Amino acid sequence: MTAVPASTGGAAPYGARHVAIIMDGNGRWAKKRFMPRAFGHKRGVDTVRDIARAARDMGLEALTLYAFSSENWKRPADEIADLMGLLRAFIRNDLAELVSNNTRLKIIGDYQVLAPDIVDLIEDAMARTAGNTGTTLAIALNYGSQQEIARAAAKAAAKGEITPEAIEAELDTACLPPLDLLIRTSGEIRLSNFLLWQAAYAEMWFTEVLWPDFTAAHLREALEQFGARERRFGGR
Ligand code: FPP
Repeated sequence: MTAVPASTGGAAPYGARHVAIIMDGNGRWAKKRFMPRAFGHKRGVDTVRDIARAARDMGLEALTLYAFSSENWKRPADEIADLMGLLRAFIRNDLAELVSNNTRLKIIGDYQVLAPDIVDLIEDAMARTAGNTGTTLAIALNYGSQQEIARAAAKAAAKGEITPEAIEAELDTACLPPLDLLIRTSGEIRLSNFLLWQAAYAEMWFTEVLWPDFTAAHLREALEQFGARERRFGGR
């Protein structure tokens, strides 16, 4: 791997403003160690923390992480409870750092249906970081891209026009820069109902690395390869 600077001093690293990640492979990581899936998710949160810090240090404008999909409700109740517990703990324990390092927290997805105490934590965290001007950490919770597009189309229609621009303005991601790079870990090559609209011209980067093993060096490698790609957006 080519040496890549740890920080680009606040500029968009390799021309990327917005990176999104499908964090996959926590369960397999735990299984390889004969540990329960919850252990893999717990290590997955450590990676969330590391990668959020790396994104900030590299000067990314936005990092969007797929933490809980609208389809994840199909998982066993104890695993859902573990994930919700980790989310609670993450917001409680990491909010002070997010506030102090100028990170803005944003949630995409229909988070209002989560447990009331989580909704309160989320809304408090978003309010307390709303004025921050550094990296936006967007966490997708109870997120499904088809549902998001349908909601946005309904809102656009209610305002009188259904055009790509009008729909885009109503997406949960409307406050984020255009998506440049979509990463998925763990060797799966699919989008799983994540940012389908936003990925129209995004570059994709897939790695076999399981999420708990994903490091800032992997993020830099992905960004470096992104920087070497020619993006034509349908033109020549
Ligand atoms: C995929 O691994 C991962 C998830 C479904 C959830 C991702 C959640 C976290 C990293 C922790 C919570 C996040 C925050 C922001 C607090 P998998 O269980 O599908 O793994 P497998 O495919 O190997 O079974």
